[in-house]
Amino acid sequence: MNAGAPVPFGWARAARAGLTFRPVTDADQPLLARVYASTRKPDLTVMTAVQKAAVLLLESRAQDAHFQKHYPQADRLVMMGGGHDIGRLYIARWPARHGIIDLTVLSEYRGRGAGEVVLRDLMDEAAAAGKDVSILVEKCSPAMRLYRRLGFVTEEDKGGYDLMCWKAR
Ligand SMILES: CC(C)(COP(=O)(O)OP(=O)(O)OC[C@H]1O[C@@H](n2cnc3c(N)ncnc32)[C@H](O)[C@@H]1OP(=O)(O)O)[C@@H](O)C(=O)NCCC(=O)NCCS
Repeated sequence: MNAGAPVPFGWARAARAGLTFRPVTDADQPLLARVYASTRKPDLTVMTAVQKAAVLLLESRAQDAHFQKHYPQADRLVMMGGGHDIGRLYIARWPARHGIIDLTVLSEYRGRGAGEVVLRDLMDEAAAAGKDVSILVEKCSPAMRLYRRLGFVTEEDKGGYDLMCWKAR
């Protein structure tokens, strides 16, 4: 797969919505740090902006290294819309299910339907292959509403997170 080329999933809704995907490269570390920061609650420490940026970059790199170590087979994709990087999708296509390792839309692009479009295309793709779709969702996340609305149910209580699953059949 060429870096920068749209990923040819045949995802009809994403195509209609003008969403494309490209593999993450090393040059995307600053973007990944912004994506990571968008998932963090505001912190009240007395760090300067420069110190915070450095910490977020370190934590983001550690998170990405964790994803690569534990899900080496996952596609790590940048989501693009309207010519902008709008988020990321990390997806592992396991034999029995599609595991969403991470789906994050940058704060400024949230609430415009991109997340639902991607999820519905992913669900269609999984259904066509007879597979389920799973994702870990923080219990208190507003995203829980979206997943429940799309038919995901809690499969396992993992403390602060629920393993949510959508069954194709
Ligand atoms: C969850 C997420 C990927 C959805 O993408 P999106 O493009 O904003 O979603 P859509 O516009 O298609 O759908 C809107 C739904 O997203 C969710 N949402 C909206 N803003 C959100 C936010 N700031 N944080 C989390 N979820 C949010 C809500 O469920 C909303 O549905 P509602 O209007 O019924 O409450 C995106 O909001 C996000 O990246 N959130 C932060 C990360 C996160 O919470 N991930 C969940 C796994 S822990």
